[in-house]
Amino acid sequence: MDPEAKIAVITGAGSGIGRAAALALAREGASIIVADLNEGGGRETVRLIEDAGGNAAFVHVDVTKRDDLQRMVSFAQETFGGIDIFHNNAGIGTPQPRFPAAALELWEKTLTVDLWAVIAAVQAVVPAMRQRGGGVIVNTASLAGLIAHLPDPVYSAAKHGVVGLSRSLAFLRDEANIRVNCICPGVVDTPMVRGVPGTMTEAELKAREAYVNTMPLIRPEEIAEAVLEIVHDDSLVGQAMAITHGPRRRIIDPPIRFREDPSQRPGSP
Ligand SMILES: NC(=O)c1ccc[n+]([C@@H]2O[C@H](COP(=O)([O-])OP(=O)(O)OC[C@H]3O[C@@H](n4cnc5c(N)ncnc54)[C@H](O)[C@@H]3O)[C@@H](O)[C@H]2O)c1
Repeated sequence: MDPEAKIAVITGAGSGIGRAAALALAREGASIIVADLNEGGGRETVRLIEDAGGNAAFVHVDVTKRDDLQRMVSFAQETFGGIDIFHNNAGIGTPQPRFPAAALELWEKTLTVDLWAVIAAVQAVVPAMRQRGGGVIVNTASLAGLIAHLPDPVYSAAKHGVVGLSRSLAFLRDEANIRVNCICPGVVDTPMVRGVPGTMTEAELKAREAYVNTMPLIRPEEIAEAVLEIVHDDSLVGQAMAITHGPRRRIIDPPIRFREDPSQRPGSP
């Protein structure tokens, strides 16, 4: 799909990867709905897009609330006329201590934002995409959705869920002309990785900064390029694209692939 004159909705677009994807899609001519809990960050993304000559609008959304997801869809329809591209990207990590020491409310929140909300958001946007004759969904998973991630086991479990969801929704291409894929980035230089002032002590932020600076970090703009590649390449369906440090992007094939038997589809005679 060529993003020119299309409408893209991006959750978590008030920061990091979502903001970079919003700017990249806007540069290619898409109108952008910036959906985020963080109003300051979301409005800053809109400003950056508008300053560069693009079209964007902010909607305050908590992706863990069904009504908010519905409002996000209605807002896109009322503001720009629908949804063609959905980058299902908002996400969080689990605060320390690591599971199983983490309090239930903390790991439950990770699971809710990083998996439940991703599924609920797909369910909310698909009817709007059907109305436009199809679309492209890019879910943000993680390398932690393909391999173990010892620092945050519940995050890894949720992201494995996003990979499974994205691969299993491949049938939507035939059924509704909607292509679903996911991106699986390694460590990206965003506030999620560096830590957010106000949520950590100065000492914790400094320690995190020192640790993060020992790693090769991927720039958010490199992840945005992967999002653009998925949007443009109509052959990509039900795929997990890994993005690691350096000029490397590759599709990670699942160990087993089932071909869907059309006679087994719901509604088949
Ligand atoms: N940074 C990394 O190393 C990395 C690696 C792999 C995957 N990811 C994934 O990329 C996505 C974006 O992360 P990022 O690194 O840009 O982080 P970030 O913290 O910079 O951005 C995340 C955005 O999501 C928003 N958000 C969080 N909870 C929300 C909610 N309930 N409703 C609406 N918005 C909400 C935040 O306000 C924020 O603007 C996440 O899904 C994350 O898991 C990040």
